[in-house]
Amino acid sequence: YKQDTEACMAGRIGPKGLTQEQLEGYAPGLVAGIEAVRQKKESGELPLLRLPERRDDLPEIEQVADRYRNFFEDVVVLGTGGSSLGGRALYTMADPDKRGLAPRLHIVTNVDPFGFNRVIRHLDRRKTGWIVISKSGGTAETLMQFLSVLPLLRATLGDSRVKDHVTIITEPGDNPLRKLAKEFDLPVLDHDPKVGGRYSVLSVVGLLPTLIAGLDAKAVREGAADILNRTLSAKDPLSADAALGAAVNVGLNKNSGIMAHVMLAYSDRLGSLARWYRQLWAESLGKEGEGTTPIYGTGPVDQHSQLQLWLDGPADKMFTVLSGPLEEDTENVGPGTVDPVDADLAKLTGMDYLAGRTLAELMDASRRGTSETLIEHGKPVRRIHFDAINEYALGGIMMHFMLETILSAHLLNVDPFDQPAVEHGKKLTRQYLYDLQN
Ligand code: PA5
Repeated sequence: YKQDTEACMAGRIGPKGLTQEQLEGYAPGLVAGIEAVRQKKESGELPLLRLPERRDDLPEIEQVADRYRNFFEDVVVLGTGGSSLGGRALYTMADPDKRGLAPRLHIVTNVDPFGFNRVIRHLDRRKTGWIVISKSGGTAETLMQFLSVLPLLRATLGDSRVKDHVTIITEPGDNPLRKLAKEFDLPVLDHDPKVGGRYSVLSVVGLLPTLIAGLDAKAVREGAADILNRTLSAKDPLSADAALGAAVNVGLNKNSGIMAHVMLAYSDRLGSLARWYRQLWAESLGKEGEGTTPIYGTGPVDQHSQLQLWLDGPADKMFTVLSGPLEEDTENVGPGTVDPVDADLAKLTGMDYLAGRTLAELMDASRRGTSETLIEHGKPVRRIHFDAINEYALGGIMMHFMLETILSAHLLNVDPFDQPAVEHGKKLTRQYLYDLQN
């Protein structure tokens, strides 16, 4: 992928943009941040940074994935927040027709009974596998999801066969999910306690669903490894995309009044990536009065709902526009798919210029038009374009965003790995449920 931050600079977008001097002012902080990352990688303090090069854990994950692929038509992943968003981002990127005979994957993150029942009631439970992911093993939403399903599985499969249909991913030690696993003899894969949920996509948490979906987990890690190495070996920190991204984000916030960051994906395949990023950024940096508000959008849909505000509303937003090649989604994708617009039909509408045009060309024109309009109105726009959308590219950009977040935290002097406010919310949820009993 290529990152272009030129349209965040004062020369390009007017006085609201960053000056070169301001940008360079972040270089010493970034050098220190990159050094801290290197040390934490080498000491093993941050196992997240060792995941890209790990291969020893793959055979076990592959074995479970193969079993799920061979035996099930549907696979349901239960989990919330960091336990599901990374897997979903990787899965959404893939073209289902190119995944071979993989089971249908349902990543269920919410507990609204309407949505939950809509997914599970049509499943053939004899041909469905379940993966329950909770690092802590005690998140009420995930526990409730599984506790709601378990009686149905027991009724259909019988107690002795539930274990053939369920895999638990949670950290070692005693926790509510482990208790259930013990009681029903369910297989458990360990979640590394030192890899936080929103940083866990390169671990079993993200890679098991990826492999079940027929995707290449090694390529995800290879992409991540390349970006990590590139960042750690950069002589000038601003030449490393992730570090430059951190300086631009923090710089625009501190110097140009930017309070929100809109990630606009001009590709349905990248939509869930923007959602994953939203959590990563918000939960890692929203502390001690710091952090900008991440917003995700899809192009061109959100041009028709948000662009008015973006252009004429408060000048407090920066934009990251994600794009990739669209031709492969439009052309030669088999029978039943759409062709370029028929010239006679186009003529009939009076919109002759649509004759022979493809949906991909419209997406592209729309992305270019919106980006340029934003820039002309003085809005900071970062563009990230993928030469190809695949496992390698996604692994790379996810590592980029994780490093960008960690380095931004370094510049802002906040801890990117805790989430005290989220934990407080979980505690109160448990308390209200407890109160219902008493
Ligand atoms: O990133 C995080 O720490 C959170 O978003 C968690 O992933 C989320 O709250 C789910 O927690 P758990 O995996 O413990 O169920």
